[in-house]
Amino acid sequence: MQVNGKNFQTIWVHPEDNRIIQVIDQRKLPFEFQIVDLNSSDDAFEAIRNMTVRGAPLIGVTGAYGIYLGLLKSNSSNWQDTLKDLAEYLKTARPTAVNLAILIDEIMIGLLSCPTLETAIELALWEADRLKDREIKWSEAIGEYGCQLIEEISRTNNGRVINILTHCNAGWLACIDWGTATAPIYKAFRKGIPVHVWVDETRPRNQGARLTAWELSHEGVPHTVIPDNAGGHLMQHGLVDLCIVGSDRTTSTGDVANKIGTYLKALAAFDNKVPFYVALPSSTIDFTMEDGISQIPIEQRDGEEVSHLEGELEDGTIAKMRIINPKSPVANYGFDVTPARYVTGLITERGICQANKESIVKLFPER
Ligand code: MRU
Repeated sequence: MQVNGKNFQTIWVHPEDNRIIQVIDQRKLPFEFQIVDLNSSDDAFEAIRNMTVRGAPLIGVTGAYGIYLGLLKSNSSNWQDTLKDLAEYLKTARPTAVNLAILIDEIMIGLLSCPTLETAIELALWEADRLKDREIKWSEAIGEYGCQLIEEISRTNNGRVINILTHCNAGWLACIDWGTATAPIYKAFRKGIPVHVWVDETRPRNQGARLTAWELSHEGVPHTVIPDNAGGHLMQHGLVDLCIVGSDRTTSTGDVANKIGTYLKALAAFDNKVPFYVALPSSTIDFTMEDGISQIPIEQRDGEEVSHLEGELEDGTIAKMRIINPKSPVANYGFDVTPARYVTGLITERGICQANKESIVKLFPER
């Protein structure tokens, strides 16, 4: 997608040295646009952990490149053991987004059956590139299916502006290109359907205010940033036609883990009969889990994300400041689970289905 009129993706192989993977440093946005190099599996692990890269599909693809970077530095005598350790290590970088484990597991069998370290390195790069391209295709397909929904709502409203509420950043920055929740919006906008996006700021890290708003403005999509608490009020007053959010892990029964605060939006949407859709690729579906609330691991992050805020001062310097009583403890749960009963539908790369086991299995019978 566009950054100052130039096309970017979130991760790529260095054009002059394929032993380096490059990513956009998302911790710096929207104030600075910086590209950083990942030279080792430790760099990939750290980039996922410290949220240089974030968002479920991008975390997964970065993990796959992390395997490649780790193999590059591996010793040829015991590379298979190193590979197994590397996979387990990278999977622990963040706990909630299941894409990380799913993508790493997907490439392990092939890698372990390579005859030599050299062939394993070659295959690891090929696989990481393949997974990256597949995520792009899946995001675009999600965009096409979701766009049909927006088109339908627009038709029944005689072409007036359709207001879509989204939470966190499930945009192209969270993926490779297009995004999940934003893909239908970008598709609809490019088709000339009038849309406007309510962007939840998404405390504590403000991925909505910092990242989604930045993305949408570079694409020229009309949007308004709102405090996290405003969505319910907007829904009560008929100012939201549709909610679309992403997911970090969805169970085989349709329970959706996503950024903290998603559940409250789903409750407000349910009470106000606003359709609440979750856009996700199948790499986010955990077919081993049936109950989201008891089974999905919820990340707890550093309390400083709650006690402090980062922003740009008038003179352009970036500053971090404490915003709460210094003696008060804080809690920082990164995600919550929206039970399937509050989800109107799942927008996947194979089409839209209901958030229940029967519908999900119908779309993905092989799983
Ligand atoms: O903590 P983050 O920024 O990695 O959380 C990201 C989200 O919750 C996104 O909404 C989710 O990954 C969907 S991404 C397409």
